[in-house]
Amino acid sequence: MSVQKNNERVTVPAIRARKGGTPLACLTAYTAPVATLLDSACDLLLVGDSVGMVVYGMDSTLAVTLEMMIAHGRAVAARCNHACVVVDMPFGTYEESPEHAYRNAARVMAETGCAAVKLEGGVHMVPTVEFLVKRGIPVLGHIGLMPQSVNVAGGYSARGRTEDEARAIMDDALAVDAAGAFAIVIEGTVEPLAREITGRISAPTIGIGASPACDGQVLVTDDMLGLFSDFTPRFVKRYADLGGAIAAAAEAYAEDVRTRAFPELRHCFGTRPAAAATPAE
Ligand code: KIV
Repeated sequence: MSVQKNNERVTVPAIRARKGGTPLACLTAYTAPVATLLDSACDLLLVGDSVGMVVYGMDSTLAVTLEMMIAHGRAVAARCNHACVVVDMPFGTYEESPEHAYRNAARVMAETGCAAVKLEGGVHMVPTVEFLVKRGIPVLGHIGLMPQSVNVAGGYSARGRTEDEARAIMDDALAVDAAGAFAIVIEGTVEPLAREITGRISAPTIGIGASPACDGQVLVTDDMLGLFSDFTPRFVKRYADLGGAIAAAAEAYAEDVRTRAFPELRHCFGTRPAAAATPAE
């Protein structure tokens, strides 16, 4: 199976068609400049509700609003010509009923220009997934560790360690697959179970803290760029140390300001002879 060229739009059916093929490379994006940088490298960009913790410093994703997701989703979708852009439905905007979910998901689609929405949940979300898909809203499922349920689960530890939990996660995967999700994120789930799910369902699986056998992988971009210096979760591989680079740049800038090394006259206006000055000066 071939990977699409980077000037071609990756559509929802194209993501689905990658089942068992070249793994899907997915990252989160919350802002226009970062989306511009990631677009051509990625098959799918997720405007995750992790924006609440990563950008706004919240303790969990629960306080993220539909308006926040629409604002960030619009910024990302505006800069993507290649990747399939998916926007997370935040807590409280889709669980009540399929109709409620449809109204909010339709707003997300119309106001951001994204290609699909993602929602957390398994067996109990089947009527909603079916309702949305039948009405033209592609759904990316999300099972295993579901951060919006952190208060029920009591934390963010890996799921599927007991037989009962593993059976429930498998049931979730089979149900969301049958309901029509075009792909399913498996988060924080023991490796053998994520591998088994990938082998049993027809939709591609996208793992985060799951298994190399998944049909794709997703990471929070800020984690893999090393923007947080204090802690790197086990499931993250760091590809850069931007946190260190930013802190060093800030130190160098502050030192320059304090020693009057910055600005120099070449950074100032009206310091060249009038004849040589451009109109902008
Ligand atoms: O919100 C998010 O970024 C996510 C990914 C971690 C899958 O749901």
